[in-house]
Amino acid sequence: METGMSTIGVVGAGAMGSGIAQIAAQAGHAVVLVDESESALAKSAASLSKIAERLVGKGKWSAADSERIQSAIVRTSKLEQLARCEWVVEAIVEDLGVKQSLFQTIETIVATNAVLATNTSSLSVTAIAGQLKHPDRFMGLHFFNPAPLMALVEVIPALQTDSSHVDRVKTMMNDWGKSPVIAKDTPGFIVNRLARPFYGEALRIFEEGLATKRTIDAAMRNAGFRMGPFELMDLIGNDVNYAVSCTVFEAFYNDPRYRPSLIQKQHVDAGWLGRKSGKGFYEYEEGKPTAAPSNAPANSDQFDWIIKRIVAMLMNEAADAYYLNIASAQDLEIAMTKGVNYPKGLLAWCNEWGAKVTLNVLESMQIRYGDDRYRPSPVLRDLAAQKSEFTL
Ligand code: NAI
Repeated sequence: METGMSTIGVVGAGAMGSGIAQIAAQAGHAVVLVDESESALAKSAASLSKIAERLVGKGKWSAADSERIQSAIVRTSKLEQLARCEWVVEAIVEDLGVKQSLFQTIETIVATNAVLATNTSSLSVTAIAGQLKHPDRFMGLHFFNPAPLMALVEVIPALQTDSSHVDRVKTMMNDWGKSPVIAKDTPGFIVNRLARPFYGEALRIFEEGLATKRTIDAAMRNAGFRMGPFELMDLIGNDVNYAVSCTVFEAFYNDPRYRPSLIQKQHVDAGWLGRKSGKGFYEYEEGKPTAAPSNAPANSDQFDWIIKRIVAMLMNEAADAYYLNIASAQDLEIAMTKGVNYPKGLLAWCNEWGAKVTLNVLESMQIRYGDDRYRPSPVLRDLAAQKSEFTL
């Protein structure tokens, strides 16, 4: 380990915490990985040893890297071991009360200038900070799964966070080889907010019987997405995806734009969770789809309107996030291309279509459905009126 590098504490040794500990160790930090469960700690150590074996086999890590990275991580069930950490990242269960009480305890252990961060994907960072004695050194640090492979990290200052800590964390994430973006503490941050229509609008088209799920998936793959919405919901798990939709909807005081889908709820109720349960929108055997995905367009017009409808809704969400200053235009683009591998940034894509085209698609749906769900972002109206575009 390099001298002078800070010691990183990670609390929670599940999928996310183990990944974050690995990246910190790879970057040369000493890591204290804490979990209340000894078996979770043992599982985490075994999983890293398997990863190391595979990477050494592929020539990506040397035997010395493997040894250095694995021995940099100390595993313990005792929170007191965090006393020497300058930074602590939490990745325990997604429960506000449990996270608040954990951080209150951590504050009694670490130095007052230690930086504390939560990996929450859906809770209010400000609400956790609100329970702390020194909320100015607290923030969200949202990694994506699998953390060692996904470049994007959303850095989310709470209302109370001192901006100097945000700059330091951003620098550290760059040093770790990540692509950090700064997001306001609002429901879904960037990715989980902007991506909602990819699922929601696809479900709506399916629910109305306007196209089959196979056609919708094929259309979206044709537009450049790696997977169609139904394939992706099955991969994420309908229970997880539906829960995120509900959280965002409720956090936005039931804004119809984020209304969850009844058909997805029914899939959850039926236990049709996706790949992990053998059946979701499609059927799976040993985690693989039993039928090959269809690529054949019913007709190109059908592909065209499906893409227009879903992508216009995605662009509207990005435009509104830009309008509301959730993040800079550049960070909104990085988030969607690096976090969820979208073929293009949504604002750049909107520039390609022209704001007027996006606006027309949304307005025609707003008239057809009489639903506030389709209300266009004010910035699209402004850009269309000025014959202008997003500055990127
Ligand atoms: P997980 O269930 O795999 O691991 C959580 C770990 O925390 C378990 O090992 C558990 O024993 C431990 N734990 C629970 N309460 C604890 C406590 N009070 N003190 C110490 N250890 C405790 O969960 P996962 O998937 O790793 O998620 C962790 C966090 O990361 C959650 O907040 C989740 O929302 C967030 N997240 C998850 C992503 C994912 O795709 N799984 C992506 C991004 C964020």
